[in-house]
Amino acid sequence: MCGIVGYIGNKPVYDILITGLKKLEYRGYDSAGVMIYDKSLLIKKSKGKVADLESLFVNDQDKKGSIGMGHTRWATHGAPNQINSHPHVSNSGEISLVHNGIIENYHSLKSVLLKKGYVFKSDTDSEVLVNLIEDIKKTKKIKLGKATYFALKQVVGAYAIAVFDSTNPTEIITAKLGSPLAIGVGESEYYIGSDPSPFLEFTKRCIYLNDNEMAIINLKKGLTLRDIKKDSIIDPFIEELKHDIEEVEKGGYDHFMLKEIFEQPKSIKDTFRGRLLSPSLPIKISSIEMHFDKFRSANRIIFISCGTSWHASLLAEYYFEELIRIPVKVEYASEFRYRNPVINKGDIVIPVSQSGETADTLAAIKMAKEKGAFLYGICNVVGSTIARETDTGVYTHAGSEIGVASTKAFSCQISLLLLMALDIGKRLGRIEEIRYQKIIKELAAIPKTIESVLSKSKHIEDISENFLEASNFIYLGRGYHFPIALEGALKLKEISYIHAEGYPAAEMKHGPIALIDKYMPVVIIATNKSNYHKVVSNIMEIKARGGRIIAIVSSGDTEVKKLAEYTIEIPNCDELIAPILANIPLQLLSYYIANKKGCNIDQPRNLAKSVTVE
Ligand code: AGP
Ligand code: GLU
Repeated sequence: MCGIVGYIGNKPVYDILITGLKKLEYRGYDSAGVMIYDKSLLIKKSKGKVADLESLFVNDQDKKGSIGMGHTRWATHGAPNQINSHPHVSNSGEISLVHNGIIENYHSLKSVLLKKGYVFKSDTDSEVLVNLIEDIKKTKKIKLGKATYFALKQVVGAYAIAVFDSTNPTEIITAKLGSPLAIGVGESEYYIGSDPSPFLEFTKRCIYLNDNEMAIINLKKGLTLRDIKKDSIIDPFIEELKHDIEEVEKGGYDHFMLKEIFEQPKSIKDTFRGRLLSPSLPIKISSIEMHFDKFRSANRIIFISCGTSWHASLLAEYYFEELIRIPVKVEYASEFRYRNPVINKGDIVIPVSQSGETADTLAAIKMAKEKGAFLYGICNVVGSTIARETDTGVYTHAGSEIGVASTKAFSCQISLLLLMALDIGKRLGRIEEIRYQKIIKELAAIPKTIESVLSKSKHIEDISENFLEASNFIYLGRGYHFPIALEGALKLKEISYIHAEGYPAAEMKHGPIALIDKYMPVVIIATNKSNYHKVVSNIMEIKARGGRIIAIVSSGDTEVKKLAEYTIEIPNCDELIAPILANIPLQLLSYYIANKKGCNIDQPRNLAKSVTVE
């Protein structure tokens, strides 16, 4: 995980680093640190947030300098304390480094360096790398760029790094393998970021480093890009970014998560833009159009993803099998990559990811590629690694999602997946026209329908008051609502630290029912379509054992209302649309419970927004 920033140019660097780090805090917030060079090297680091680091800068003199690097950490090797914080400095004190990723063979590299007399202050893998670079530089008597190149040749693992040598203070070296790195190109100045957010306000010209690329950024000579594998110079491709700066501000909401929940109608509109022009016109997803032969001849579709994106994939299984009638498998990327899955010709592999940088998903993509699969990526972050590593795909266009708990990205994923299923199913002639028309009309109207669900936020907030003391929750749903039950439980545990489990409602009697007593809140999705009466029976079973029921029901419901302690209504709709709506109150319930408990909503403990380590 971790966020990296850097700057080399003529502006004062301190503010660029601090504001940049704050924008990257979603990537990790165990500790933060900066290196600023102004005639000599200044390193300051602190456990905790960027704000803690800021408080160390009491003297304006320390803020001087126009070259520097910063880091916000999500610890992998070594405790989240001040010593393990980045930047790490080499034994001579000359070279400093910030690193995002894991040096898997750090142990053996460290043993060699220890024998040579190197000493290590921290427990990190990153400190090994900076000393390895120094060792190579000194033994071979070469420049920092070459030494970094030789060091990276020895490294097994993942990295995005920025390295600075105070004996040649007009240069920063960056390199990438596995973890993301973007370089902002200004007028005689360069910015570095794990994503472009730290430099968007200064420049929209961006170079995304590819794996095995290294950029030598020199204040006088400009930027030179090298291919580490081939040891050759390559021409940098400068992209003109279209990101919106307002997107990454809170816009009056207390938390990004709440803002993102309320943004969902707009986000889904953006997902549909140009694709669902009107229910009467054909759906237009160009990557499906272009590669339709693959879908026509597909024997199987395999979704690979993690966390919330995995829940979206699970719902996609229901949608695709119902509307396209092609067998679907849904895999946790982390499990898929470490077994020997059978991938046949004619299988389509669909990775789903908000960030497009999740290490497990990326590794699974690489493996599926080696096995000859056709890869159709679904991700949110434009230009992300997953977007670049797949054969084709589609962006969700949910906009920047900053809250660590995914909300709008999920709603956009599931809306898009339903749209895809409708498009493919219709082209294959597998959906009855009348059914197609009903669903597409409701799907096109979903931004408006979600608004009506959001307008019930006060009612949900009031309900939340009654559950602040709960230490466990069960979430139940059947059919299309089962993935939503899983997602509801994940949201609650992520941000409120209340233990929650999602189950298919009918599975309750096979075990979890033993947990039901008067202290156990059960959130159950009981909308009025298929399986309604079966779910009502499940509710009776919970009630008979004293469980506290919060039910999501269709508007006008009377039966469940008599049984549940609290009900939250969603509009009447098709059963394929209902999960998209039922998810919204669950997001709000988690939010209000966590907020009233005083939890750190946008940056829950131990988590990070994009999990770029295994
Ligand atoms: C969502 O709330 C989580 N923080 C997490 O499960 C996330 O969905 C998962 O890490 C996958 O991320 P991705 O969609 O960026 O690949
Ligand atoms: N492995 C490094 C550390 O623990 C970087 C961690 C990361 O990128 O998540 O400090």
